[in-house]
Amino acid sequence: MDQAKNSAYVSMQGVGHQYDPQAPLVVKDIDLDIHRHEFVAVVGPSGCGKSTLLRMVSGLLIPSQGEVSVFNRPVTEPRDDVGIVFQKANLLPWLTVRKNVLFPLKHKYGSYSASDEKRANELLEMAGLTQFADKMPDELSGGMQQRVGIVRALLLNPDILLMDEPFSALDALTREQIGFDLLKIWREHPKTVLFITHSISEAVLLSDRILVMSKRPGTVLDLIEVDLPRPRSSKTINSPRYAELTDLIRGYIYEPDVPA
Ligand SMILES: Nc1ncnc2c1ncn2[C@@H]1O[C@H](COP(=O)(O)OP(=O)(O)O)[C@@H](O)[C@H]1O
Ligand SMILES: [Mg+2]
Repeated sequence: MDQAKNSAYVSMQGVGHQYDPQAPLVVKDIDLDIHRHEFVAVVGPSGCGKSTLLRMVSGLLIPSQGEVSVFNRPVTEPRDDVGIVFQKANLLPWLTVRKNVLFPLKHKYGSYSASDEKRANELLEMAGLTQFADKMPDELSGGMQQRVGIVRALLLNPDILLMDEPFSALDALTREQIGFDLLKIWREHPKTVLFITHSISEAVLLSDRILVMSKRPGTVLDLIEVDLPRPRSSKTINSPRYAELTDLIRGYIYEPDVPA
């Protein structure tokens, strides 16, 4: 009878975690449903448990309380249909960009097909990396390397993409540009996205909804609908609604915790 829950691609119910049974919870009482092709951002102060939450959705960590489900099944281990992008691309330095992108397929199946390679080229093209496909990672800027990491995750065509502060290591301008690039990719290849960031402006610019977490133990302070039109662009940043939304979130993060 739980129709709404059943339609969610990712569902967290009463999720909490403690790394040590003697220690306090680092995350608690998280309820969140993420629907098909929705882009949900999570913001919160450093140490509030954002990465912990993402690891629980990915299956790398089993929650001590509550349940995380993906496609209505409890998550017990990492799944092939869930892709992850971390802060660092961690490219293999001895492989070209294209080979890095194809590496997970090669690793998993022992080889890849001509059509995999074609798709890799298409994704590289979409990410503006065609002319770098045969270069080695250390010939690329940090922003480009991070784009390669995103393409690598997309090549596996995951239904769900988990991103943990993927742009944190980049300078502000690159960061904004890569955010728009991500939105373009997401528009052309829709995915359900859980995007962790500590940047309020980035969360507002990119997402459909934002989960605002309190400081540790991280719990839900608010779940905010980002009613800004798409496609988003640098114009979005100048709109009054953008300023209102960023102010609202800033109020939660920089002022004493307000109960949800
Ligand atoms: N593997 C671990 N073992 C013990 N404590 C951890 C571990 N990972 C994270 N923590 C603690 O859990 C809390 C939340 O961490 P984390 O999820 O990384 O927060 P965030 O990503 O929001 O900065 C922090 O206090 C951190 O020190
Ligand atoms: Mg983190």
